[in-house]
Amino acid sequence: MQLQRRTFLKTIAYSMAGSLFMGKEISQLLIGTTYAAEGSTGELKIDLAQFPALQNPNGSVRLALNPFTTNRPNGAYYPILINRLQSGDYVAINSRCSHADCVVNPFSSAANACICPCHGSRFGIDGSRISGPAPRNLDQYNLRQEGEETLIVEVPGLNYSVQMTPTPTASGDVVELSFPTQDRVSYEVLFRTDLQSDWSAVEFGNSSEGPFNLLESTGNGSDKSVFVQPQGDTGFFSVAVVVTEQ
Ligand code: FES
Repeated sequence: MQLQRRTFLKTIAYSMAGSLFMGKEISQLLIGTTYAAEGSTGELKIDLAQFPALQNPNGSVRLALNPFTTNRPNGAYYPILINRLQSGDYVAINSRCSHADCVVNPFSSAANACICPCHGSRFGIDGSRISGPAPRNLDQYNLRQEGEETLIVEVPGLNYSVQMTPTPTASGDVVELSFPTQDRVSYEVLFRTDLQSDWSAVEFGNSSEGPFNLLESTGNGSDKSVFVQPQGDTGFFSVAVVVTEQ
């Protein structure tokens, strides 16, 4: 059964950003740039203020980068459990059960465990095996905290680079954003006018001629190009992975 998605998108989106200076003669500027990704591990930034459940010990949320069922992910990634320990520290756990690969539930205070829905294996809030057919602990992701409010989870395979190319069209210049995608992971395009501004989602198209009316696009494991219209004289575009709490 497909679990319900809850709307919760931009603020924890992982993104690779590149700057783009736009003006009337955009196509004459040398702005086609590839932003190199270092290694394959991406960083998922989590704003703790977005999650009431993580304000207290034993809090737990499950974050999905693509759809999943009880039995498996429908896409490249298993959901990630973010759990808060009694000590106030956090752990990031791969929800893939070590028994037969089902998707483990978030931590339940009532059950005092993360429970696998398939055969009932139980894991502690740190992912350690308690009971059931699972032979070992759940895997943890590397995680660090920046200040009081931000967690950064290192997710193997999530890193990517974005190439930006100005593209003249009959109706004016647009910008092509090219990037590799992961299977059934959704992407959105964000924009901000300067480094201090908040990111905002902008509409994009699959063709340089438009229409520019999409807010999300789902990957299939291949490279993808989307097209956006200039948003002003200067600014930054970002291609972000959409993450949902489920
Ligand atoms: S798959 Fe989790 S207990 Fe069997």
